[in-house]
Amino acid sequence: MEIKRELAEYAKRIEAQLKKYSYCGMNLNQQIVSEAMDYSLEAGGKRIRPILVMEFCRMCGGDTEAALAPACALEMIHTFSLIHDDLPCMDNDDFRRGKPSCHKQFGEAVAVLAGDALAVRPFEIIAQSDKLDDSKKVKIVSELAYSTGVCGMIGGQIIDMENETKEHVDEENLREMYALKTGALIKTASKIGCIAAGADEEKTALAVKYAECIGLAFQIVDDILDVTGSTEVIGKPVGSDEEQHKTTFVTVAGLDNAKAEAKRLTDNAVKLLDNFENNEFMKELTEFLLSRNY
Ligand code: IPE
Ligand code: IPE
Ligand code: MG
Ligand code: MG
Ligand code: MG
Repeated sequence: MEIKRELAEYAKRIEAQLKKYSYCGMNLNQQIVSEAMDYSLEAGGKRIRPILVMEFCRMCGGDTEAALAPACALEMIHTFSLIHDDLPCMDNDDFRRGKPSCHKQFGEAVAVLAGDALAVRPFEIIAQSDKLDDSKKVKIVSELAYSTGVCGMIGGQIIDMENETKEHVDEENLREMYALKTGALIKTASKIGCIAAGADEEKTALAVKYAECIGLAFQIVDDILDVTGSTEVIGKPVGSDEEQHKTTFVTVAGLDNAKAEAKRLTDNAVKLLDNFENNEFMKELTEFLLSRNY
């Protein structure tokens, strides 16, 4: 499949840049934390968020080289969220990206600290970039911090945890939670790409609308794959949601309705891409995110 080859090429470019930001090889006393950071980062995710950063920058006429540092920064934040998400106190999952989870490999304390380190390294990287002017750097840093924190991903994760103890969780609650725990970082990907390109407010608003659709669709597909997927292919345990007594889009709406809603959101997202030039790759990527089996 052409799109998979293109995604793999994109991922290679991002991974080569991520390597440049590694602390390993610096001969630090606290080597173990940097090893754990690299272990989780190098495990090979789909790199969807950094690709979105690069693509929105490209579609808005920017230089993707300038978007590379913020793209890697976002992938680090995402990886930090996964390390913590897998901890026994959260989803208690032993596999991630086809390998033992960070805490299984390094122990809980190192995993917590590797996650913490991956949460702050991004801000250093952006601040030190020589391809972005200061005003863009400040906007990107502010955006990234906001979408990661209590009003974004972390806020969504706490709603997710609290829901585990509730008898009834409704669809509205789920949509709000998904918009935060998963949607916030995806929305930020599109925004950061726009900032790097110097896009105007109108274009940025359209990019955000697009990302709101695929952010929600992305988590619904993730819920579906937790039921219908295979552990070998998704690289993380299938059935984790049921084990943790999670209410998901699948348990609330049923599998068929969940699939239909993901498709509706994807169709909306594809239409929104008509507002951007050179959108062919992004249209394919958007469809791929719906049909993916990993
Ligand atoms: C998994 O994200 C966590 C969610 C927010 C659903 P991805 O499916 O993008 O995970 P990787 O980066 O490819 O491993
Ligand atoms: C992930 O939701 C949200 C994060 C912020 C990491 P899930 O808990 O469903 O993600 P997976 O299925 O473990 O990747
Ligand atoms: Mg979770
Ligand atoms: Mg999880
Ligand atoms: Mg999941």
